[in-house]
Amino acid sequence: MSILDKIDINSTPKHIAIIMDGNGRWAQQKGHNRLFGHNFGVESVREVLKAAQKTNIEYLTLYAFSTENWNRPKEEVDGLMDLLIRTIGGEVEELHKSNVKISTIGDIGGLPTSCEKELIDAYEKTKNNTGVNLILALNYSSRWELTNAAKNIALKVELGDIKVSEINEQSIIRELSTSNIPDPELLIRTSGERRVSNFLLWQIAYSELHFTNVLWPDFKAQDLYGAILDYQSRERRFGKLSEQIDKNS
Ligand code: IPE
Ligand code: IPE
Ligand code: MG
Repeated sequence: MSILDKIDINSTPKHIAIIMDGNGRWAQQKGHNRLFGHNFGVESVREVLKAAQKTNIEYLTLYAFSTENWNRPKEEVDGLMDLLIRTIGGEVEELHKSNVKISTIGDIGGLPTSCEKELIDAYEKTKNNTGVNLILALNYSSRWELTNAAKNIALKVELGDIKVSEINEQSIIRELSTSNIPDPELLIRTSGERRVSNFLLWQIAYSELHFTNVLWPDFKAQDLYGAILDYQSRERRFGKLSEQIDKNS
């Protein structure tokens, strides 16, 4: 029985978020520069997306560049931006053919203009697609997102649109860049680091976390299936007791 056959296709996560980490170490282990690893990481994105398409996953969010990643050496940042522009431009047609809908979270206006343009073209081209939603987290950080949410809510109060007493969880969710996206049931981080590095802090409140030592360029379909199986072995209690959980739902 293959690992894919072991997955209960009726209870796969709707939304998987991945912190794609370890490209630099992967390259360095092979005696190459870090950008070599980022280039190979694109192959894993292709594979994981195909695997997601086979397993009923509706949303795949990939952390590709954090607001903190600007602090890396200029050569690496430039290389990453170049790779992003080339990859989005080069892949969009194929993604469109396979019915993928592309969107982003993060401060896209802070990316190089040509990158922003490729992204806008990709949204436009794929906006009516009904397959997997591929969400790229670019120039994203959760604290940036939550700070914006706080500002927007404060502005609404200032303008008299809402009262402080009316602010609730829904008012915050509406201001997040993920307002139209369900929370991820599963968060995967590759490369052995066990931290969330400013990613989706609000949205992962009840996500199952799967950490693997596999470096991102080595992460393939089987690893995704393994993570889904691990997820399916968990009991999600949301604060309740085990005996209160309907095991069939
Ligand atoms: C993840 O790989 C990709 C980005 C953060 C852009 P890294 O570049 O962080 O690789 P390591 O963690 O240094 O090995
Ligand atoms: C997290 O990886 C960001 C992305 C994968 C894009 P980092 O490599 O930047 O995270 P830290 O610095 O090890 O926490
Ligand atoms: Mg890293």
